[in-house]
Amino acid sequence: MTRSPVSVVFNGISYAFGSHQVLNHIDLSVEPGSIVALLGPSGCGKSTLLKLLAGLLQPQQGTLHFGDRLIASDQFSTPPEQRDLGMVFQDYALWPHMSVAQNVAFPLLMRRVPTQERQQRVITALDRVGLADFAGRRPSDLSGGQQQRVALARAIIAEPKILLFDEPLSNLDRDLRESLCVEMASLLRQLGTTAVYVTHDRHEAEILADRIVWLSVGTVSAIQTVTPLSGEPV
Ligand SMILES: Nc1ncnc2c1ncn2[C@@H]1O[C@H](COP(=O)(O)OP(=O)(O)OP(=O)(O)O)[C@@H](O)[C@H]1O
Ligand SMILES: [Mg+2]
Repeated sequence: MTRSPVSVVFNGISYAFGSHQVLNHIDLSVEPGSIVALLGPSGCGKSTLLKLLAGLLQPQQGTLHFGDRLIASDQFSTPPEQRDLGMVFQDYALWPHMSVAQNVAFPLLMRRVPTQERQQRVITALDRVGLADFAGRRPSDLSGGQQQRVALARAIIAEPKILLFDEPLSNLDRDLRESLCVEMASLLRQLGTTAVYVTHDRHEAEILADRIVWLSVGTVSAIQTVTPLSGEPV
């Protein structure tokens, strides 16, 4: 990746859905180019935290910075498309009527990247996720693991400064989850992008992350530093 990675800093961020306080004064820093895994029980606010990062929700208290740039506060929120990030969800979120290549090319189309460059970058991105031969297929003609690779290629193609993952492997069976997790860890380290990775699976977090952050009932409860295992067999 050619662009320099940025830090992500949550400072005193709170969020409630009505009277239900989900996040309570969250302070969290993600170093530039590092991978933080966010772990915690169902309903503790992991996806809410990612949505605040992505710009799908606005903090009710506190500030969010990417590097020196103020991204959101209770006063304003930078729109998602101006945050320079890529996202991968649990359910792949691919467009069924588009081919693999069209799905992957979409972020570049939005940025008006010329056709020839777009095609070249699609080939590179698909190659990176091991799907070079699948460009013409529809998502429905792929396995779950292959669909998630397409979503990953789409997330990285525009070389975003930050990558967000919300339980991307939890729909896959155990063996596939493990092998794709190791591949993703290696890809993320090659790219050097700052990443926040939500999971229920501690083993996955240990494979992928530099740091594990535990969230419990809306408060960051523990931070564990993990030795990276990039590329090593597990
Ligand atoms: N749009 C919404 N309106 C009201 N409450 C919501 C909304 N979205 C989430 N919540 C509630 O906020 C809390 C946190 O939800 P969130 O989706 O962040 O949890 P999570 O940690 O991602 O859980 P899981 O591991 O099950 O995905 C939950 O109690 C949830 O019911
Ligand atoms: Mg969730």
